Amino acid sequence: MLSASAFHAAIHNPTLMPVPLALLTLLADGRFHSGQALGAALGVTRSAIWKAMQVCAERGIEIHSVRGKGYRLAQTLDLLRQEQLIRQLDDNVRPLLSCLEIHNEIDSTSKQLLRLAASGAPSGMACFAESQTAGRGRRGRLWVSPFGANIYFSVLWRFAQGPAALSGLSLAIGVAVLEAVQALGIEGCGLKWPNDVLWKERKLAGVLLDLSGEATGPTAVVVGIGLNVRMPETAAAGIDQPWVDLYSLRPAEPPARTRIAAQLLGHVLATLDEFDRQGLTAFQERWARWDCLAGREVTLQLSTQRITGRALGIDPRGALLLETQGQVRAYASGEISLRASA
Ligand code: BTN
Repeated sequence: MLSASAFHAAIHNPTLMPVPLALLTLLADGRFHSGQALGAALGVTRSAIWKAMQVCAERGIEIHSVRGKGYRLAQTLDLLRQEQLIRQLDDNVRPLLSCLEIHNEIDSTSKQLLRLAASGAPSGMACFAESQTAGRGRRGRLWVSPFGANIYFSVLWRFAQGPAALSGLSLAIGVAVLEAVQALGIEGCGLKWPNDVLWKERKLAGVLLDLSGEATGPTAVVVGIGLNVRMPETAAAGIDQPWVDLYSLRPAEPPARTRIAAQLLGHVLATLDEFDRQGLTAFQERWARWDCLAGREVTLQLSTQRITGRALGIDPRGALLLETQGQVRAYASGEISLRASA
C-alpha cells in the first residue's frame, strides 16, 4: 500500500507515467490474472506488467497481488460511459449541454475548461475525468482524485452579467449537488455555507467556482464539482478533513458512476440555466431547507479575525448571516472559512 506522502509525491510529479488503461481493462472483471497471462494479452514482458502495477499504485489504484494467483483489482472498475451519460440526462436538460469531454486523466477538469473558455469554448460545455493529477479544492487545497473512484467534473457557463450579479451562484450549485445526491437515494445530507455537501459533518462533495471576465460582464464561469463515490484507502490517507463517500452511505452497492454523473450534470445544467434567468431568488428557500448550520453556534474565520456567533442562514445575495451579541451581520464569501465550534 502506498503511504500518504508517497501518494502526494506521485500526484504532484509531472513526470508520471500515464494510467495503463489497457491493463486496467483486462483487470476490470475483478478476477485474478497472472502476470504471464496479462503480459501475453498485451504483448509485453512480465516485468513490464510489474512496472505498470507500480504506476497503478502511484495513482491510487489498489491492486492485490497474491503469489501463485496473480493480480486482482481491489475493487471492480466502473468507468464513465459517454453515450450512456448523455442518454441518461432528462430530455429538458440535454439541450443545455453543448459538448462533453471525458478524459482518463487530466491535470484538472476546471483548468481544462478555463483553457478552452479562453479559446472560445461554448457555454454548456462539460468535462469529466477518471482521475486528476492536480485536482484543486477551495483555499488552495488539493482535491484527491484517484482513478475511476469518484466523480470529478466541471461545466462552463457564460453569463451576460458581471461577477457581482453572480455572488449567490456557488450556493445555488450547492443546492444542485445536494438535490442530485438526494435523487440518488442518499438521505441525511446537508449544506454547510457556502456550498459544502456534508453528511454528519463529513464532506461528501465540494464545489469550486472560477470566474473570468470584465467587471460589467460578460462572465465565463467554470463550475467544478468533486463527489466522493468510493474512495480507495491509499488515496484517503491524503485527505486532511473529515470525509465520507457514497459507498459507505448506502447499504447496497451505489449506483453506477455514469448514473451518478448524469444526475449531477443534469442538476447542475438546470441550475445554471435557472440562475441565469432568476438569480439566487429561485434557490434561497431550497438552500435554507438543507442548511445544516442554521441556529447553531459557529466560528467564522476571516483573514485577520475570528468571529463566533449563531448562524442564521443567508441573505438575498448569499452572504452568511451571523448573530453576535444580539447583532446580525452578513458575511460575503471570499477568504472566509467556517467551522462548527466545539
Ligand atoms: C472544495 O474544496 O470543496 C472544492 C472541490 C472541487 C473539486 C472539483 S473536482 C473537479 C473540479 N476540478 C478541480 O480541479 N476541482 C474541481
